[in-house]
Amino acid sequence: MADRLAGKVAVITGGASGIGEATARLFASEGARVLIADRNADRGPEVAAEIGEAALYVETDVRQSEDVQGMFAAADDAWGRVDVIYNNAGVGPPEDNIRDCPEKTYDLVSDINIRGVWLGMKYGIPHLERAGGGSIIATASVAGLVGLAGMAAYCASKGAVIAMVQAAAGEWASKGIRINCICPGGIATGQGWLSQERVEQSRQDWARIHPVGRSGEAIDIANAALFLASDASALITGQKLVVDGGWTGPDGRYDELTGRDWTQV
Ligand SMILES: NC(=O)c1ccc[n+]([C@@H]2O[C@H](COP(=O)([O-])OP(=O)(O)OC[C@H]3O[C@@H](n4cnc5c(N)ncnc54)[C@H](O)[C@@H]3O)[C@@H](O)[C@H]2O)c1
Repeated sequence: MADRLAGKVAVITGGASGIGEATARLFASEGARVLIADRNADRGPEVAAEIGEAALYVETDVRQSEDVQGMFAAADDAWGRVDVIYNNAGVGPPEDNIRDCPEKTYDLVSDINIRGVWLGMKYGIPHLERAGGGSIIATASVAGLVGLAGMAAYCASKGAVIAMVQAAAGEWASKGIRINCICPGGIATGQGWLSQERVEQSRQDWARIHPVGRSGEAIDIANAALFLASDASALITGQKLVVDGGWTGPDGRYDELTGRDWTQV
């Protein structure tokens, strides 16, 4: 336990599992009080109870304006302020190619991943203004930076999050409100549809894709969120922090041209 977020109140969407859950636990261990906003009414209260009195759960669908306003009101009622907003809830269901992808999949992905983040900024910013500033973080993805065939709606949604963060950061920088996003690579979580067995399989798949040779874990992203939430990142706004084990940096095709096995330097 340290105190990098001592005295701060954080609202975390999608905090009932995966990246959001790891972040809620980490933020609380760093002295924050955390409001877990998630539509998973089974797991959310359990996570909050495990964290203890520094955590509260509020059932929230980030697509619904009233729910989003309600989660901020709940944090304000409980602790009198909001300093950090982590708009993390998102989904990445199977899509297929654009021709064969059902419209309802596109709508679901867009509504949660884009509208949810937009509402989280729209109704969260007045709270941060009252607090005299604060930090907003969103979870984008490497899918917003490179094209992943078969995931066009998801890629578009995460590209939109990056663009939204860049635009909004300029609007609010002078008010002391910093707005950034994190672009995770492959992280071993369920993403709303993978069984535990498939999570283990994806852990091995991500290890092959990431030059560092291992999958990302939820705590890797929680640590990035902690940095962006804390005063250690005071001069950073409008940015994307890529946490992807080297997936999108080094170009493997060039490595092949050099004729060397770069895992054996
Ligand atoms: N796991 C990865 O490889 C990966 C990579 C890049 C980005 N991401 C992003 O990370 C974020 C977190 O995902 P995760 O990997 O932790 O998956 P996860 O499924 O474990 O967590 C997502 C959480 O969001 C909640 N949620 C979904 N829709 C919601 C809604 N409408 N309202 C409120 N809560 C909702 C779910 O109940 C769940 O608790 C997402 O935005 C995802 O797109 C994940």
